[in-house]
Amino acid sequence: MADADSASEEDTTVEAVFDAVAETAPAIRAALPGRRVESGAENPSGETALAADVYADELLAEALAAVDGVGSYVSEEREAAVDAGGAVDEDAYAVAVDPLDGSSNLRSNNAMGTVVGVYDAPLPTTGRDLVAAGYVLYGPITTMVVADADGVREEVIEGDGEGGVDRSVTEPDLTLPDDPVVYGFGGRVPDWPADFTAYAREIERELKLRYGGAMVGDVNQVLTYGGVFAYPALVDAPDGKLRLSFEANPIAYIVERAGGRASDGASPIRDVDPDGLHDRVPLYVGNAELIERLEAALA
Ligand code: AHG
Ligand code: MN
Ligand code: MN
Repeated sequence: MADADSASEEDTTVEAVFDAVAETAPAIRAALPGRRVESGAENPSGETALAADVYADELLAEALAAVDGVGSYVSEEREAAVDAGGAVDEDAYAVAVDPLDGSSNLRSNNAMGTVVGVYDAPLPTTGRDLVAAGYVLYGPITTMVVADADGVREEVIEGDGEGGVDRSVTEPDLTLPDDPVVYGFGGRVPDWPADFTAYAREIERELKLRYGGAMVGDVNQVLTYGGVFAYPALVDAPDGKLRLSFEANPIAYIVERAGGRASDGASPIRDVDPDGLHDRVPLYVGNAELIERLEAALA
C-alpha cells in the first residue's frame, strides 16, 4: 500500500493524466472531419483502423508519455506497451487507452470518445490495479467523466486548444440514478445466446432502448439516466467484442465508483485476469439489481 507522501504524489499524477487528456480533446475533435477514411492498417485486434484512430493514438501517446509518473502507455492501436521513461512499479503508472472508441460512428456522425485507465501495475493485469479511469465523449458537446479516489465527476471541455482548454465541472458527484430508464445491447440479436435473449426480452419490456454503437456514448446514457449496457458473449464469439484493458476495466471502474456493477456475465469484470493486452471480454454494466438479474439469467 502506498504511504501518505506517495499517495498525494499519485493523486498529482492522476490529475496530470486527465489534464493531458483534456488538453488533447480539441485537437482530436478538430481532426475528425478530415480523418474519416481507413488508414490502411489493422489494429492488434484485427480491426481496420481509421485515420482518426491513428491520429488520436499519436496525440495521446505524446501527451501521456510526457506526464511525470507515467511509466508506460498502452493502446488498443498498438501491439505492445510504449516505455514512457519510468518503470511501472509503486511509483509509476501504466496508462491504457482506447484512443477513439466507436470510431465506426465517424461516417454516420454519431457519438464517440476516448477511454483511459490508470493502472498502478504493468499490463496485462486485472482491473483491481486501476487507481483511476475516465472517458472523453465527443457528442454535441465535449464532456469528460473522471473516476478517481474522490469519486466520479463530469466536466465540460471548451476552447480550441490554442490557448489551452476551458474546463468546468458540471456534475461533481456523478452517481447512477436509483430508478433505471435505458438499456443498450450490442451485437446482432440472432447471435445472442438463448439465456441472454431471455434476459433482453424482460428488459425490453421495462426500459427504453438507447443503443448508439459507441460504448462511451451508450455507457454515458446509463450513467445519466440509470439502466444497463451490455456487449454480450455471442454464440460465435463467447468472449464478446470489447477489450478488457482499454474498454471494459476502465468503464467498470467508473460505473462501480458511481454505485453500479460491472460483470463478465458471472463475476466482477475487474477480477478477470488477462493473458494478453488485447484480451476480449463480455461486458454487462449498470444498476446493481439489473446486473444481479443478468448474472442469474446466465448462471
Ligand atoms: P472501437 O471503435 O474502439 O473499436 O470500439 C467499438 C466498440 C464499442 O465502442 C461499441 O460498443 C461496439 O464496438 C459496437 O459494436 P457493434 O458495431 O458490433 O455494435
Ligand atoms: Mn472501443
Ligand atoms: Mn478504438
